Amino acid sequence: MSLSINYKNTLNFLNEYELDYMKELAYSSNDKLKNKNGAGNDFLGWMGLPQEMLKLTDNINVLAKEIRENSEVLVVIGIGGSYLGSRAVIESFINPFDISKKGSPTIVYAGHNISGHYHKQLLEFLEGKDFYINVISKSGTTTEPAMAFRLLKEYAEKRYGADGASKRIIATTDEKRGALITLSKENSYRTYVIADDVGGRFSVFSPVGLIPIAVAGIDIKAMLEGANAMCSIIEENDITKNPAILYACLRNCLYNKGLTTEVLVNYIPRLSYISEWWKQLYGESEGKDQKGIFPASANFSTDLHSLGQYIQDGRRNIFETVIRVAKENNDIIIKKQESDLDGLNYLDGKSMHEINTNALLATVMAHVDGNVPNIIIDIDEISAYTIGSLIYFFEKGCAISGYILGVNPFDQPGVEAYKKNMFALLGKKGFEEQNKILKDRINN
Ligand code: PA5
Repeated sequence: MSLSINYKNTLNFLNEYELDYMKELAYSSNDKLKNKNGAGNDFLGWMGLPQEMLKLTDNINVLAKEIRENSEVLVVIGIGGSYLGSRAVIESFINPFDISKKGSPTIVYAGHNISGHYHKQLLEFLEGKDFYINVISKSGTTTEPAMAFRLLKEYAEKRYGADGASKRIIATTDEKRGALITLSKENSYRTYVIADDVGGRFSVFSPVGLIPIAVAGIDIKAMLEGANAMCSIIEENDITKNPAILYACLRNCLYNKGLTTEVLVNYIPRLSYISEWWKQLYGESEGKDQKGIFPASANFSTDLHSLGQYIQDGRRNIFETVIRVAKENNDIIIKKQESDLDGLNYLDGKSMHEINTNALLATVMAHVDGNVPNIIIDIDEISAYTIGSLIYFFEKGCAISGYILGVNPFDQPGVEAYKKNMFALLGKKGFEEQNKILKDRINN
């Protein structure tokens, strides 16, 4: 198995019998997913995506080849679940120092913020470069990506003419509903569907994630195969064999003891967007009904010199989940130097990955001594296959954990509150009354 959980550093903080109680809840949660009879059961389409999407990989790879051959940049427009999954996978593989070149487009992101400065800089960056746009929105109506698409569509039409732009815009959205599908039909964009029963943050293995990931040159078939392999491993109701059940149980046991913040830790910078995706997945799935573990993240060693102090010694309501990678794709050996003025000759012959692994062990022990329980997720290496497995593991762990917590992990009612206020403040039709109430609050 390419993924396993080491939980020995939680056992000072909880008893095995607590896990035994919790596992019964996890088994019945897992059954609810299997039998599709839990809360939000009309949003379980994600469970079968890795298998189902294998059929679409050839089609997506053909599209990706076209984009790779005809562009220097792919602009991915989307927010939340519509871009974080693909970005997490892409950032795990790209070379951040590489400059854009034909055959391997630079992937940039838009519509996940409302900064005029950011979008102006993006438009400037596109000057003189060939580009495609993949606009992604399940609802087809979210303000941030819709606004970015308006800007980029206008720019693409200026550069390529209306027909030329239409060939360079790919829309991923609902089959029937929303402004984006209407726009797409009107302008003859190529479209890919997000199925009704797949929520945004569970959509990495749908065209939402697969198109940008394939354009980045990542093997989407291997990624889906990794997810499928994980899918069969985490079927069974056996805490000793099913890492998704074990993870869900551990985090809920720790949460019940008042450890209400989970910090997902990595020691490899290219995993930092896996953490961003994970935060959205767990935060939006579990944080409701005045419950839920607050998902935070830290990139070590970088954050050992910022958040490290707090984790070691601040308020004790934290546990850590560390992603440990056994083998790095590239490594460098530190060599002995004659003078040893920097005093580093004791590292002679050691690889940077070996030193990094020692930093991990040293930190885990220090944090455990500081009363921070540590769960370690071990993966063999970073490949399309293992990242597929890791993502599916986190998705299933999240669904089980949400049911244990007693929430509906598949809705996001809280995301709506700010949107309504924003519509009202900006004078959208139908929000006149709320506009008055908010203006009064601002002025008094
Ligand atoms: O997980 C979710 O459902 C959300 O994060 C959505 O992905 C996000 O709000 C974007 O929505 P949409 O794809 O409809 O533009």
